[in-house]
Amino acid sequence: MERTPIPVLTVQTAPYEDQRPTGGGGLRRPTALFESQRNYLPNFVQSLLSSVDLRDRQGCTMVVGSDGRYFSKTAIEIVVQMAAANGIGRLVIGQNGILSTPAVSCIIRKIKAAGGIILTASHSPGGPGGEFGVKFEVANGGPAPDMVSEKIYQISKTLEEYAICPDLRVDLSRLGRQEFDLENKFKPFRVEIVDSVEIYLNLLRSIFDFNAIRNLLTGPNQIKIRIDAMNGVMGPYVRRILCDELGAPANSAINCIPLEDFGGQPPDPNLTYATALLEAMKGGEYGFGAAFDADGDRYMILGQNGFFVNASDSLAIIAANLSCIPYFRQMGVRGFGRSMPTSTALDKVAKVMKVPVYETPAGWRHFSNLMDSGRCSLCGEESFGTGSDHLREKDGLWAVLVWLSILAARKQSVEEIVRDHWAKFGRHYYCRCSLLHDVEKETLAQQDFLLHFFLFDYEALEPRTAYFIMRDLEALITDKSFSHQQFAVGNNIYSVERTDSFEYIDPVDGTVTKRQGLRIIFSDASRLIFRMSASSHVRATLRIYAESYEKDPSQHNQEPQAVLSPLIAIALKISQIHERTGRKGPTVIT
Ligand code: G6P
Ligand code: ZN
Repeated sequence: MERTPIPVLTVQTAPYEDQRPTGGGGLRRPTALFESQRNYLPNFVQSLLSSVDLRDRQGCTMVVGSDGRYFSKTAIEIVVQMAAANGIGRLVIGQNGILSTPAVSCIIRKIKAAGGIILTASHSPGGPGGEFGVKFEVANGGPAPDMVSEKIYQISKTLEEYAICPDLRVDLSRLGRQEFDLENKFKPFRVEIVDSVEIYLNLLRSIFDFNAIRNLLTGPNQIKIRIDAMNGVMGPYVRRILCDELGAPANSAINCIPLEDFGGQPPDPNLTYATALLEAMKGGEYGFGAAFDADGDRYMILGQNGFFVNASDSLAIIAANLSCIPYFRQMGVRGFGRSMPTSTALDKVAKVMKVPVYETPAGWRHFSNLMDSGRCSLCGEESFGTGSDHLREKDGLWAVLVWLSILAARKQSVEEIVRDHWAKFGRHYYCRCSLLHDVEKETLAQQDFLLHFFLFDYEALEPRTAYFIMRDLEALITDKSFSHQQFAVGNNIYSVERTDSFEYIDPVDGTVTKRQGLRIIFSDASRLIFRMSASSHVRATLRIYAESYEKDPSQHNQEPQAVLSPLIAIALKISQIHERTGRKGPTVIT
């Protein structure tokens, strides 16, 4: 039967000046902006689609998914209607619009798609008062490189119109193919709704020994696990993979229904927000706990009684135990990558394994070239992200299955594995302090490893204050007189050995990325790092990272903040944050 072709409209619009995607995170803004500013989303989607060469667009396939947050359904409809109008040949979309970030990366690679669009603001809160975001993935299944983001931004600044098929309606709940005839187009526009989990699950099956994990979870020496999907996208993945496939009892998975506002909590897997999990783990009943962020690329691991594994340690421990995973036994281990602020625990493992470590700027996209060129097998960041060359995104559930594989192979508890690792390689005490200038976040102060304090108010002055602090600090630490300077704090003396403003030269394409953070390395290998966060647009957030190395196992039982407080005192002194913000500062550092 002849179908009436769907009209393709061209809509006049005016450009926005603020649609520069931040590297990797895409465009992340308050949901209210997307909802209330006329054409805010269509403008950005048009810039994104226009960044793909017209010839490449014709007939290509793109993958679309969301973390299920508020506004996702509306946004997916707009993305579909605009993709069709812009000549994209086919879209592969997760059922009900649901796909985790790692699943999108997996599907792009599996079906050789031209790229993907993920509607998510990652670990940021959802709901009408929260944040919304649009991430763009390229053909290797990784975040758009800076050049692509820049191109999108340039297009967005002069955009005058966009193309859309407003009458096109896709049934997101119905698995399978749907076809639409469009006005003035030769070929029908095709949509395929796929199961959100299946393709990704098949990839995991090819990486891990599922029998070994199933045995750990159901066999005679089984451990009880507790997995918190934090009402983000991971619920269906946890249920299907950990419960149905690997045998974990249904009640070991909590917060597994994706909610538009994530139940009111920021979907951020850390000790501050994954409190339900932390409390459950403290009870001692469970031997392994994990939580994920909204789009499933970040994770946190806890052991029995709430034993916390920091992300830098998790990365190093995974590196040291890769032989527990069939994938790495087959593929070998070529090299490791970590972002510069991530602790150097990984480097100790690499040295023993005689493989190189690539130190990159923060942002997963910097690992793509290393993995594509076969230089790097495992990568990680202090911001709760770890992944391997099975994808081009960090992958929370993959990291959990790695940990379960290690537990199964070593027959030890999480805490024993971590302590053995420290005994062998030494312990890297580590903490990150985030200095927000957002008064609304005041109640968040004094929380475990994330120390927040506040730079004045919310309005215009604060980003400038943060900017000036960084500018003056850079001048101070890169001045010759600063090298070999000594700081005495209590009984400790710290001698500066090396300082720089971190810059990265991509070994594959030679791209130079400058000013990625200020580094002070002391003669005892301690490090202090200052950098501005790039993942949040509403807050100018200055981060301080402190790291200190302790080889002696008798010194491995201290509180990180106690060990690191002299370093943080140095950080506060040289940056003069107290003086410059009029604040007494983080009495939170104990
Ligand atoms: C996002 C990216 C990560 C990156 C992080 C840095 O989560 O996906 O790859 O490490 O942002 O965040 P920050 O706020 O420290 O710039
Ligand atoms: Zn995320």
